[in-house]
Amino acid sequence: MMSYFNHRLRRLHRCNAVVQERSHNLGNLCNLWFLLFLSLSLVSCDSGDIVEGGYSVQDKGKVVKLTARVSGVGSWANGYSVALAGFAKDDKYATMQRALPVSTADGTDVTLTLNNITEQISTVEFAITDNLRKRIITLGRIAMADYEDQQDTIRMDLGTIDLTMFGALQQGLFNVACIQCHGGNGRSAAGLDLTEGHARENLVDVPSTRREGMMRVVSGDAPSSLLHQILSEGGEGILGYNHTEVVSSQFKENAEEVRDLLDEWIGTLKVEN
Ligand code: HEC
Repeated sequence: MMSYFNHRLRRLHRCNAVVQERSHNLGNLCNLWFLLFLSLSLVSCDSGDIVEGGYSVQDKGKVVKLTARVSGVGSWANGYSVALAGFAKDDKYATMQRALPVSTADGTDVTLTLNNITEQISTVEFAITDNLRKRIITLGRIAMADYEDQQDTIRMDLGTIDLTMFGALQQGLFNVACIQCHGGNGRSAAGLDLTEGHARENLVDVPSTRREGMMRVVSGDAPSSLLHQILSEGGEGILGYNHTEVVSSQFKENAEEVRDLLDEWIGTLKVEN
């Protein structure tokens, strides 16, 4: 039996060599073997991923599927959405979006799928958007250029994510633009740690180590807060390091929106009696 197979195999190898030299001769028995071999290998390739990915993907643009365990969605009821949104390059407004229902309970595992993503979409972002689909703050982002060759669904898993206003600032502002100097890499500029679980207690009603008589954040009073002042336009010279520029350069399309959100959060803080 074995020798029979070996014999066939050797013949096949020989055939392939012959086919390459004389591919026009289809009547040749060797070519038939080769074709049989070819079709068998094609059949075995065809099962699995290619079919599973779905044909619609190729026909109508790309698909991004977000999964996350969320809390705090309900805090965005008034004119805001928590959405998976597609943005064209340099655009403040989403071209397309799918939003989570505000009724989404804390701790829910959610899935949002954005279909038919065309070439004009440059980023797909999990973001807070307003009622005109303007980007307020981004919590997770993928650049479509990184997936140019991918035909299957592009997956975006954000794990557990806190979508309260402060959670959004932690994820979308501090983690993105601040922690590299404040708490990440084991160093905290000005003794200020802005990493997750530390930022709030290091900011709210805590005296500044740099500007005497000022608080980093004054509960309920954004304009008096050092944090507000150093991140705003005009605040460039308050500290030895230009923080206004940090926000302007990191958030090219939504610097004002991020600043406003920060002020809104400070405004929600209860004033201690
Ligand atoms: C490249 C490093 C760097 C980045 C990024 C950075 N900071 Fe700073 N930060 C500093 C330095 C340095 C100081 C101290 C400046 C001084 O001594 O005048 C400081 C001081 C501060 C202070 C004053 C603390 C106090 O006790 O007075 C606050 C508030 C602050 N940063 C917030 C932020 C926030 C919010 C971000 C992100 C938007 C950020 N920083 C990003 C380097 C950085």
